[in-house]
Amino acid sequence: MSDFPTMPAIVTELPGPKAKKLIARDAKHVSPSYTRGYPLVAQEARGAIVKDPDGNAFLDFAAGIAVVSTGHCHPEVVAAIKDQADRLLHISGTDFYYTAQVEAAESVAALVPGKGTKRVFFGNSGAEAIECAIKLAKYKTGRKRFIAFYGAFHGRTTGALALTASKAGQREHFFPMMDGVTHVPYAYCYRCPYGQTYGKCKMECLTFITETVFKTLVPPSEVAALFVEPIQGEGGYVPAPPEFLQGLRKICDKHGILMVADEVQSGVGRTGKFLAMEHAGVTADIVCLAKGIASGLPLSACVAPDAIMDWKPGSHASTFGGNPLSTAAARATLRLVKDELMANAQSQGEFLLHELKGMMAKYDVIGDVRGKGLMIGVEFVKDRAEKERFPELRDAIELCCFENGLLTLGAGPNTLRICPPLIIDRSQAKRFLEILEKSLQAALKKLGYKGYPF
Ligand SMILES: Cc1ncc(COP(=O)(O)O)c(C=O)c1O
Repeated sequence: MSDFPTMPAIVTELPGPKAKKLIARDAKHVSPSYTRGYPLVAQEARGAIVKDPDGNAFLDFAAGIAVVSTGHCHPEVVAAIKDQADRLLHISGTDFYYTAQVEAAESVAALVPGKGTKRVFFGNSGAEAIECAIKLAKYKTGRKRFIAFYGAFHGRTTGALALTASKAGQREHFFPMMDGVTHVPYAYCYRCPYGQTYGKCKMECLTFITETVFKTLVPPSEVAALFVEPIQGEGGYVPAPPEFLQGLRKICDKHGILMVADEVQSGVGRTGKFLAMEHAGVTADIVCLAKGIASGLPLSACVAPDAIMDWKPGSHASTFGGNPLSTAAARATLRLVKDELMANAQSQGEFLLHELKGMMAKYDVIGDVRGKGLMIGVEFVKDRAEKERFPELRDAIELCCFENGLLTLGAGPNTLRICPPLIIDRSQAKRFLEILEKSLQAALKKLGYKGYPF
């Protein structure tokens, strides 16, 4: 595999002939509920490069939706999976014991900050970790209500969907939702819902909860848990300021509400620390992890101290959750993330953030650049003063990037998310910036946007 490329190269029209054939077959038998933004067919991948069946190579800054943390097919992860596959594929941790699950739980428990012994419930997806947290919070508190945020994405299963408020289309046709969820505005400082400016505000996003919601709508004594993404993911890569997370912690403490950190997208080293919450110095009561935890094998973890995760046998379980292959991949992934990749995410992320902020001087359609580590959002607007959203431009850039050999994804209505594997090096970061700028220029031209002489 040493001849696998490390830079993109486009050699056919896109999609190429073999890709086209597969896409036609997919259209016939695969659920049409998926939202494919552009026609990438992945044939094989290593590191930060994905090859399609026609020989095109793409630089991957999407990482399978922020999943392949150690890069595609990291040799240590692949070796751990192969070794496990030779010995034990399945037995179900619900009924029996096996080493991979115990060792993965030990690794996760050691990396999640906070006092006391941690316990881990393994599921197969982010949504399952959220379902686990919903049930655990109800079990532990005996309460039935939840607070969540506008812009939040917590998954698509029935409980997780009730907490989600990212796109109305995700909920359309699926009402009624699980009862008991109240949504409140998130600290989206670039578009402050209270019209305030960060640094000069009175944290109205916190007082709305205590003074309005708790006094007029939901008695806090009935709230089991508050679910928060420290950086909203699908909602638009929106980082909350530290004061917001610290204030939420205080509110939860005051009212005996469990604070659940949804770190499904932001966790596992992506932001330069194991959890994004650590940047604010906040420890949640329950932490949900998935995506990057097993480098692409299906695994999620709901983590809590033993004083909280003390439910009785039979309360919750999963046939496949924590299966041997996924937990073996997680052990290798967590070792790599802890020893090398968290630090790399931080340094490559700082470089990218700085360069992208620099691009704002040249392009006033870039309204905001924000994030931590390798979780960066670039929000596009029609004009910077009015902040009118420019979703057509974001979509056109995504497509032009693809045509130029770069994989990206959108987040929220008008934000481009930058979430490469945590193994990218500086030359790949630089190539990303070159292709992004070229694609931005091409997209503006395509849209006939006035004001740019490209
Ligand atoms: C923050 C967050 N929570 C939960 C989920 C749901 O994860 P999954 O798609 O694995 O169920 C996602 C998925 O994008 C997410 O970003």
